[in-house]
Amino acid sequence: MRTYHQLTDPDRSGLGDQIGAQRKRVAERLAAVRRIVAVMSGKGGVGKSYVTAHLARGLARAGRSVGVLDADLNGPTIPGLLRDSDARRATQESPEPASGLDGVKYVSMGQFLEEGSPLSFKGPTAESFVWRGAMEAAALREFLGDVEWGDLEVLLLDLPPGMQRYIELCDILGNPPSVLTVTIPTPESRDAVRRAMRAAVDHGSELLGIVENMVGGELKGTAGDDLAAEFATAVVARIPWHPTPDTWNRLAAQL
Ligand SMILES: Nc1ncnc2c1ncn2[C@@H]1O[C@H](COP(=O)(O)OP(=O)(O)O)[C@@H](O)[C@H]1O
Ligand SMILES: [Mg+2]
Repeated sequence: MRTYHQLTDPDRSGLGDQIGAQRKRVAERLAAVRRIVAVMSGKGGVGKSYVTAHLARGLARAGRSVGVLDADLNGPTIPGLLRDSDARRATQESPEPASGLDGVKYVSMGQFLEEGSPLSFKGPTAESFVWRGAMEAAALREFLGDVEWGDLEVLLLDLPPGMQRYIELCDILGNPPSVLTVTIPTPESRDAVRRAMRAAVDHGSELLGIVENMVGGELKGTAGDDLAAEFATAVVARIPWHPTPDTWNRLAAQL
């Protein structure tokens, strides 16, 4: 079996050069982005996209230039949360972000997928999840190299649940993004988020804190406080069901 190192030697595919060139392009595209924040959680359904979109709007209302990259291909929800009625769709020819609610710029990998897409999976169905993961990682790299964000104070990345895409992101960016984590109060969410936070710390990301979402209802537990204590960071917001814009403005003011 050939190893990864053999693959990168010059008479193979030039993969090493290609990845080097891609990293350089990503660095150029993101040169005017002051801060990159990956929003992470352990599992889906905890409100990560919801928090990302509303936090972005809070930042924008405070006059900060903010972009959101929806990197979740299996559940691209950012357009639904940020779409302005007259926003036009991004196309592959003009990878410019759309202008959404409160002036948040956003781009969704899902938008590109719908348009005939370089990503539709046509490989072998056995192990297709492996291929899909590799293709999604490649798509994220291309995306970060293509989209022209312009000047941004903050770029929020809505990644899929888990930590795989985060680890790839560290590699693409060359240095680790800051990380904001979203949990719900339950012990199950705490345990899943713990793994994501460990990965973040291991890769050298700055922890911006924990957002505890869906508090004050049926969901019981102390995940936010537990994780804050374990990782010596803060619960930066507790978000109730159907919060008012004020809740988001307060969170935005802390970041
Ligand atoms: N604080 C909240 N109040 C009301 N609805 C919420 C809240 N947080 C999340 N939701 C809703 O819960 C669902 C899951 O949220 P979503 O952001 O898609 O989760 P994730 O991105 O973690 O998978 C969505 O329908 C979203 O609108
Ligand atoms: Mg989501």
